Amino acid sequence: MAEIDRSAIEKRGIPAIELMENAGRAVAEETVRFLERDGSSRLRDMMITVCCGRGNNGGDGLVAARHLKRYGAEVQAFILPPKRDSNYNREVSANLKSANEAGVSVHEASEVTEELEVRTRSSHAVIDALLGTGASGKPAGLMRKMIQAINRSNKPVIAIDIPSGLHPDTGYRSGVVVEADLTCAIGLAKKGLLAAPAKKLVGELRVLDIGFPKDLLIP
Ligand SMILES: NC(=O)c1ccc[n+]([C@@H]2O[C@H](COP(=O)([O-])OP(=O)(O)OC[C@H]3O[C@@H](n4cnc5c(N)ncnc54)[C@H](OP(=O)(O)O)[C@@H]3O)[C@@H](O)[C@H]2O)c1
Repeated sequence: MAEIDRSAIEKRGIPAIELMENAGRAVAEETVRFLERDGSSRLRDMMITVCCGRGNNGGDGLVAARHLKRYGAEVQAFILPPKRDSNYNREVSANLKSANEAGVSVHEASEVTEELEVRTRSSHAVIDALLGTGASGKPAGLMRKMIQAINRSNKPVIAIDIPSGLHPDTGYRSGVVVEADLTCAIGLAKKGLLAAPAKKLVGELRVLDIGFPKDLLIP
């Protein structure tokens, strides 16, 4: 997936910000479909919490948050702060600004606060944009605590690309893991999502077209 992403951006000239926009918008559309599937619930009456990591998975989450706000939901996002002496990458920074400008209330979370706990429990759904294909090893530190808070919410969880904590290649977990009801895989379903141990953690699986050239996806 990393190679497909790199080729799309560097060899085919598709801007990374465009891929992130396509990913987040498609996640928002799937979220609406999923939450309104019973025919009586409406997104505009809902409160959604988006939990974002500091990488591109979190960037996808910020874009999804902005589109869900545009569809009429009340949306709040929490994002892990950048590492000390560094900043978010260009696409994440741009989408942080756009989300704020669109009226999404975005909080930088340096700990799991009472506010985050209350908010996730009182939301209609929570979006897991913490860890995607850039995950390595057991979720540690604040990442681990945020995963636990998402699971404690007892609300429908929509995971972007991979339920955080699930190994993208094997489908096994080595520590805490998000238990998703819907997983929106970006571009292709990662191998781990299809493995037997992942079935209960992935929930419904949808594969989203975010504009990768078709010949890169089919070897
Ligand atoms: N071009 C695009 O915009 C595009 C295209 C396709 C997909 N995507 C999305 O981007 C995702 C990949 O983005 P990415 O490569 O930036 O990686 P990521 O999945 O967003 O994760 C990277 C972040 O996770 C942290 N991390 C990794 N393992 C951890 C652990 N065990 N415990 C705590 N923190 C951990 C890293 O922390 P450190 O900084 O401390 O290392 C890093 O900040 C995909 O899954 C997909 O959602 C974006």
